[in-house]
Amino acid sequence: MNNFNFYSPTYFVFGKGRENEAGKYVKRFGGTKVLLHFGGNSAIKSGLLDRVKKSLTQEGISFVELGGVLPNPRSGLVYKGIEICKNEGVDFILAVGGGSVIDSAKAIAAGALYDGDFWDFYTGKKVEKALPVGTILTIAAAGSEGSSSSVITHENGLLKRSAEGNALRPVFSILNPELTFTLPAYQTACGITDMMAHVMERYFTNTREVEITDRLCEGILLTIIKEAPVAIAEPTNYGARANIMWAGMVAHNDICGVGREQDWATHQMEHELSALYDVAHGAGLAVMFPAWMKYVMNHDIMRFAQFAVRVWGCEMDFQHPEITAKEGIAKFEQFLISIGMPIRFAQLGAKAEDIPTLVKNMRLGNCTVGSFVKLTEKDVAEIYKLAV
Ligand code: NZQ
Ligand code: ZN
Repeated sequence: MNNFNFYSPTYFVFGKGRENEAGKYVKRFGGTKVLLHFGGNSAIKSGLLDRVKKSLTQEGISFVELGGVLPNPRSGLVYKGIEICKNEGVDFILAVGGGSVIDSAKAIAAGALYDGDFWDFYTGKKVEKALPVGTILTIAAAGSEGSSSSVITHENGLLKRSAEGNALRPVFSILNPELTFTLPAYQTACGITDMMAHVMERYFTNTREVEITDRLCEGILLTIIKEAPVAIAEPTNYGARANIMWAGMVAHNDICGVGREQDWATHQMEHELSALYDVAHGAGLAVMFPAWMKYVMNHDIMRFAQFAVRVWGCEMDFQHPEITAKEGIAKFEQFLISIGMPIRFAQLGAKAEDIPTLVKNMRLGNCTVGSFVKLTEKDVAEIYKLAV
């Protein structure tokens, strides 16, 4: 196991009706003037936004509103949010929505305390300070409610990039599984795929003696595999939604990734897909993850066989572990199909002839991406081809 520092200060407020306590927690974490940030219609339609506003008002907290965050959130609204914060003396940002709203809130939070262009943080500059962000999560997926990162797409060139820093971890996150009852099955499945990907980006590692995090990863995946079909078949099943919601958090706040090399090549390849075609992040991952697995499997066949046996219940073939490994990948693909995810380029609307553009947009040059196997531009092109 490698040395590590782990700082995860988010205060989690979990359970039915807990969004009604939003005002109390904003106050506890020092907010007096709030930017209330949200997405399209879902939070308005469900009445959630009104409940949150009521809770803020009850605590005597004033707020300004900024809605309209799109999935794959864009830089334009971030610039607008930063301007509002600076002009209105906002000292707290409350994100009501999914990963896109939360990431947009984080970008505004960092930009509001910075004199330069917020995009600097998305091109390598570490975020050292940001306004406090609180979240009320409405979709279990990205894990941004507990993570130290934010992903934004710059309209100028359609570049989808991420920023990092513990200052981006929300000070509190309210997780009420009931708020996810209204999710369409497709969005539920995209979220499930994303959280599985967050675990697998950590699971496929070259670091040895990481039994504790291996087992945490496997436990999270087993839980998701069990609960996902229930949440999709019965959208109002509280137990399934609750387990999925907490799985999304533990999959990505890094508790299962500490002390080990992590990969993240598949996420970077997917980000180019969602930047170019504006597809849901989870759907893009469903297409890219099996392709990546097939390409890198031989690098450590025993790790893939372990994944197959412990996560997918395959029987170990000690003579031919590559057969077991392949079986695990096949079961993963079948699972994705069973929850309604695409697994090929065409199902996403992506085109084989765009592969050179996707590769070029990654701007790897002579560098590599990933750590389990360090991939060159040529490797990345081959993996995209496997997904066609
Ligand atoms: O805008 P509204 O109307 O709310 O609709 C949203 C959106 O269309 C809808 N939705 C959300 N909650 C709902 C709901 N519809 C009905 N009922 C509800 N309760 O779902 C759609 C997707 O929402 P979005 O926020 O985009 O989903 P998600 O949470 O999957 O976030 C995806 C973004 O997060 C980034 C992705 O790249 C993508 O941009 N990621 C962020 C990470 C992080 N910050 O740590 C890590 C991830 O790897 C990921 O890259
Ligand atoms: Zn993700």
